[in-house]
Amino acid sequence: MKRYRTIILGAGAAGLMCAAHAGPDTLVLDHARKPGEKIRISGGGRCNFTNLDVTPANFLSENPHFHKSALARYTQWDFIELVSRHGIAWHEKTLGQLFCDGKSTQIIDMLLEEMRAAGAELRLETQITDVRHADGRFIVTTDRGAETAETLVLATGGKSIPKMGASGFAYDVAGRFGHDIVTPRPALVPFTFGDRFAPLAGVSVPGRAFNDRIAFAESLLFTHRGLSGPAILQISSYWREGEPITLDICPPGLVETLRDQRQAQGRHALTTELARHLPARLVEYLTPVLGLSGNLADQSDARLREIGEALANWTLTPAGTEGYRTAEVTAGGVSTAGLSSQSMESKHVPGLYVIGEAVDVTGWLGGFNFQWAWASGHAAGRAI
Ligand code: FDA
Repeated sequence: MKRYRTIILGAGAAGLMCAAHAGPDTLVLDHARKPGEKIRISGGGRCNFTNLDVTPANFLSENPHFHKSALARYTQWDFIELVSRHGIAWHEKTLGQLFCDGKSTQIIDMLLEEMRAAGAELRLETQITDVRHADGRFIVTTDRGAETAETLVLATGGKSIPKMGASGFAYDVAGRFGHDIVTPRPALVPFTFGDRFAPLAGVSVPGRAFNDRIAFAESLLFTHRGLSGPAILQISSYWREGEPITLDICPPGLVETLRDQRQAQGRHALTTELARHLPARLVEYLTPVLGLSGNLADQSDARLREIGEALANWTLTPAGTEGYRTAEVTAGGVSTAGLSSQSMESKHVPGLYVIGEAVDVTGWLGGFNFQWAWASGHAAGRAI
């Protein structure tokens, strides 16, 4: 039986990156049929693999300083260099988000090539039934027999998209080794509102979603179940059950524009004029909500200001979120308090490492979660 130096559990973004740096005598185990499935489906099949403007403020964690070291030692420029070295063409979409020109499978192939060049082996369709530590070695029991190694890396991700095999595996194992777990919760996830917004399903508006902690100015999308779109996904990571969120869907300068139009087109219906600035279905929906009636000439300055104010401060309390079924990531996870920020090594069990989404570090939408997977995988791989 081959004696491995390192076993990495999980052949996702972080695990493959770690394997590329951990060197020979590394075995990567995964229960899936293929490696890097989330990379494959990410970014609509083109993988938003990093962001040009990565800062520590783009991540949530109970310890807002933990991720700084790994992100500084493996930056977006390092990953861009890797991608370019492999001849993968890419482009910036919006807000610094970098996507492949072609398919996201190019990123998976690149990582597999790097991993193999480093001498690591990959074993898929392997169910892990037990993980123990005895006499200075980790013993990983699988449905294909047991393997041992002096180093074990937990890279099995979070709970998002259980249909793809996601589970709380890393939390269970780390918990058994004495690690605290910050309660996991779905993040980058649409909100549910019953059927309240069903009449608006498909309507998208530029706007801002905010609470008392943070604001995101991107588009909002009404769905059959509630609210989605980039601004909503972003604020969902900062939302706790029962809390309200506020939407600002007031087009810039709306009140002044309506005031000017009142002079020239006073006989035009208020709703007709509003529908020139907002989607008509949204105006129709808001008509009873905001009591919109009459012509422009009927609206006083105070009333126009009131309408502008209502559109800029539409406070709503979501019934909940769509949960792990559609959440792009899992916030919370293995507490950073028990890990070294330099190497991701456990402070409780030497030789144990936790990387990627399994750790209580969650990125914003826009390539930040992959950058964390690359950086934390690199930090552990280099330290092993
Ligand atoms: P990841 O989930 O990638 O890998 C975990 C691996 O462990 C998987 O291969 C899994 O099969 C395996 N595993 C799990 N449990 C196991 C068990 N019990 N036994 C054995 N193996 C097990 N981020 C971003 O930056 N840009 C983007 O464009 C997107 N887009 C996107 C779209 C969608 C639909 C989703 C769901 C997510 C994204 N993300 C994203 C988030 C990103 O995919 C995610 O943060 C990283 O893949 C996390 O990398 P990890 O390696 O930590 O986990």
